[in-house]
Amino acid sequence: MVVDSTGYRIPYWLTKMGAAEAEQVALAVQEGRLSDGPISRDFESNIAHALDVPFATAVPSGSAGLLLALLAVGVQPGDEVIVPAATWIATANAAHILGAKVVLADTLRDRPLIDPAAVLNLITSKTKAVIAVHLGGRAAPVADLMEIAEQKGIYVIEDACQALFSKNEDGFLGTLGHIGCFSLSVSKLINTGQGGVVVTGDEEIHNHMSRIKLNGVTSDGVTEVYHGPGFNFKYSDLKAAIGLVQLSSVADKVQRVTDVYRTYRDRLQFCETVSVCPINLEAGELPLWTEVEAKDVPKVQKFLLDNQVETRRFHTSLNHAPHLEQVGRKFPNSEQHANSILILPSGPSQPLSNVERTCDLINAI
Ligand SMILES: Cc1ncc(COP(=O)(O)O)c(C=O)c1O
Repeated sequence: MVVDSTGYRIPYWLTKMGAAEAEQVALAVQEGRLSDGPISRDFESNIAHALDVPFATAVPSGSAGLLLALLAVGVQPGDEVIVPAATWIATANAAHILGAKVVLADTLRDRPLIDPAAVLNLITSKTKAVIAVHLGGRAAPVADLMEIAEQKGIYVIEDACQALFSKNEDGFLGTLGHIGCFSLSVSKLINTGQGGVVVTGDEEIHNHMSRIKLNGVTSDGVTEVYHGPGFNFKYSDLKAAIGLVQLSSVADKVQRVTDVYRTYRDRLQFCETVSVCPINLEAGELPLWTEVEAKDVPKVQKFLLDNQVETRRFHTSLNHAPHLEQVGRKFPNSEQHANSILILPSGPSQPLSNVERTCDLINAI
């Protein structure tokens, strides 16, 4: 057994903050910029520019962003929203808490991404939207879904919470459907503690979201005008100050997560215990974290943990969530992904020496 004699434990995720972030936060505090103000606007326009999309709105989290997107397209109780069975449950919860029925679709066999053929079979007169989730930076088939959406008169929302700055041949993921949602939580490429961004190319949708974000109210300083239901989806300039610094070094972060993936791929290429899940680097997919497939995931995970290496299991298929009321339905591909995928130590600050040590351990199993 290979044991690190220093007792150092390799974290499953590593991202760092530094003096530059602290300096900008201190400046924001000194200037009294605590709420959703000019620094947030600056952050939104920088993100929109970087993603080459007309409109971006900063929100408290990726989950809040999904909720805002569904509100903006008018999802109501009784509507149906199609969601892949393989995703973080926030995707489904956003539709569920609006009173919509979450209809789960199985994923493709070879990649944990929503299957357009399954979506087509699930559309009814009540379907309002389908959410394409770009898990781990993989590009879900948005072009196919947009074609279906056009025929059927529904919306495509992209859950790109795990895919900021990931691309396919059509452009940045999150900018290809009607609305795209990103997360800025700790285990993401850009980390502002908690946070999210919602983007769209549709000015009307953007204006609608901007109003919902402010409780559905606009004011000229004299009179408040009520436009409809809304909520407080405001961001904070303190977080935007961090986000702006993180955004300025995004090229380094992209480089590191790509290097992490390449190191795993190269060093595990002859390994019989695991195989690295394919990511299309040439098309611009960004492996936010590196995942491997294994026949005996619990065994690999335990061996690594016994040797001071943390890993994460893949998302449990959503048919196991009783509140979504899909327990009796079968999702063989999503179940297969949940049982066979393991997430290895990754992140924009993960030292490559940690990755190499993890590979040595896996190769020694
Ligand atoms: C696929 C997916 N959707 C939604 C979310 C929700 O984002 P947040 O944690 O910022 O609310 C996450 C967060 O990790 C996610 O991975």
